[in-house]
Amino acid sequence: MKRTKIAEVLSQPEVGATYCVKGWVRAFRSNRFIQLNDGSTINNLQAVVDFEQFDEAMLKKITTASAVGLTGVLAESQGSGQAVELVVSAIEIIGEANPDDVQKTVMQPKKHSLEYLREQAHLRFRTNTFGAVFRVRHAVSYAIHQFFNDRGFYYIHTPIITGSDAEGAGEMFRVTNLDAAQPPLKEDGSVDFEQDFFGKQVNLTVSGQLEGELAAMGLGSIYTFGPTFRAENSNTSRHLAEFWMIEPEVAFNDIHDNMDLAENMLKYICQYVMDTCKDDLAFLNERETAEQQSKPQNERAELTLIERLQFVVANDFKRITYTEAIDVLMNSSHYKKKKFKYDVSWGTDLQSEHERYLVEKEFKRPVIITDYPASFKAFYMRANEGCESGKETVAAMDILFPGIGEMVGGSQREERLDVLKKKCADFGIHEEELWWYLDTRRFGSVPHAGFGLGFERMVMFVTGMSNIRDVIPFPRTPQNAEF
Ligand code: 4AD
Ligand code: MG
Repeated sequence: MKRTKIAEVLSQPEVGATYCVKGWVRAFRSNRFIQLNDGSTINNLQAVVDFEQFDEAMLKKITTASAVGLTGVLAESQGSGQAVELVVSAIEIIGEANPDDVQKTVMQPKKHSLEYLREQAHLRFRTNTFGAVFRVRHAVSYAIHQFFNDRGFYYIHTPIITGSDAEGAGEMFRVTNLDAAQPPLKEDGSVDFEQDFFGKQVNLTVSGQLEGELAAMGLGSIYTFGPTFRAENSNTSRHLAEFWMIEPEVAFNDIHDNMDLAENMLKYICQYVMDTCKDDLAFLNERETAEQQSKPQNERAELTLIERLQFVVANDFKRITYTEAIDVLMNSSHYKKKKFKYDVSWGTDLQSEHERYLVEKEFKRPVIITDYPASFKAFYMRANEGCESGKETVAAMDILFPGIGEMVGGSQREERLDVLKKKCADFGIHEEELWWYLDTRRFGSVPHAGFGLGFERMVMFVTGMSNIRDVIPFPRTPQNAEF
């Protein structure tokens, strides 16, 4: 008999119909009630076994974590807790699981710490929390493609191996097939990368933006959605060495259009998750609420996870310039009471404590900060006109989210060839290396803008998970590339 997924059985139950379901046993109580989960939904299907009808030795194999196929008639449930249950007439043992071994894993049905679950990332898909997180992760990804497709954007696959450092931060992983023990050397003793696979030094990309801009200069509106790699040694709950980024780029858009696009996209994702992930979201909401109870009163979130999503959808993001943000911070009682660890003054970068203050204390909503000093932003951002000397700013935008910090970073791009060439010189970038990028400014250059959304940070926000390692199946962080 053809298998039906449990999600389908539970969402359109046909009482009296015969079903075959396959999944993993979450629990087998009283030799009678099997809780079966197949990953299609957070909800288990309850199956009822009349033990007198089956061979005892076979029933012994129905243990937590084992895989079984069950066939039977769907009936209204006698017990509370579920509307329907499967009255089992045939059992197929598909994969056994030794109970003693299961005891040593996260599949043992009890509460485990997220740290312990991370050590068993290969098995944590079997838990309620990670089942929910990865179903929601899928939904967010799907929502993003749908959002852009509906608006006439083309999905562009930009290269993963590249010779350029788009962000100029020098945090790159080198890609080479030279013999690490005996690389070919030049006369001066340095490694001769001309003999490397690509005939030059290449690395894993930190951003698909530069190539995305090239595509936007012909296709109009594009987006990338791919893996990005950063060798920054920041062991925080918000950084990964390998993460996924979405980077739209739109010809003829300015910084204001760019802000509108990003705000609409973020709201769309939140609404999509609320509409399509109801069961998982309800579970994650519960989970977070329970976790909050163990925290001191003053550290608890004011809104629940679902309330936060509703809030983001319903309220305009606060938009302020960097200069205004500095003023707000300097006029805050927090600043006057010397509660910030880092200095606040025009020309210094905002630290995460400052960003958190603005988002969580001052405005209590997502905040878009624009027009940052040119000195700490990337070379490609458009120089603002009419700046006071020494106070040059660029048309940058960062979107900060409560509990997360920077969710989106973007800008209007420098489309003026002469200004861009000067920027390259100032940043020590050789024009020959970026000849192809500069070329787009030679042939019908137009104003354009784009941004990058950190995919895992968005998944953190919509799932309420507080560590980025818990929203990607196999996290890569300093000293950690297991699985
Ligand atoms: O602000 P970033 O560095 O911007 C860019 O890379 C631009 N090229 C984007 C563009 O304009 N097309 O990175 C964009 C976003 C950040 O706001 C953050 O959400 C996320 O990527 N991000 C990280 N996420 C996880 N781990 C890391 N190490 C991250 N670094 C950045
Ligand atoms: Mg940034």
